[in-house]
Amino acid sequence: MPNPNPRRALVTAALKAQQTAVAPYSNFHVGAALLTASGKIITGANVERASYGLTCCAERVALFKALTQGEHAFTGIAVVAAADGGPMPCGACRQLLAEYAPGAAVWIADSRKPSRIRQFSIAQLL
Ligand code: THU
Repeated sequence: MPNPNPRRALVTAALKAQQTAVAPYSNFHVGAALLTASGKIITGANVERASYGLTCCAERVALFKALTQGEHAFTGIAVVAAADGGPMPCGACRQLLAEYAPGAAVWIADSRKPSRIRQFSIAQLL
């Protein structure tokens, strides 16, 4: 049965994914975890290239992984990084989430204070 209060589990998964970030240029390690309607968690972390435009954010890595695993229904996404209040998704990620996960809750946390989770809707972010 899906966890009725999955925010903490999702943030925990995002914190674990954060450790897999490949961010030698910014040194800003971001983790993301997507929750599917069936209760599955799919994670991602940012991967950087020297030219910033080729960098892929944690949210998009998680989303692309999930979609290519055949997952199309999402109820939430957690995003964490060591930033005051937590990292806010960039414009590209907001647009991708609006298209593929429009109903998902967005849970943002500072990885140094992960018990403080802020919640947004995709609509609020657009
Ligand atoms: N980044 C993410 O992965 N997600 C966000 O929500 C904010 C920014 C990454 C992109 C880049 O690797 C680094 O953080 C600095 O912007």
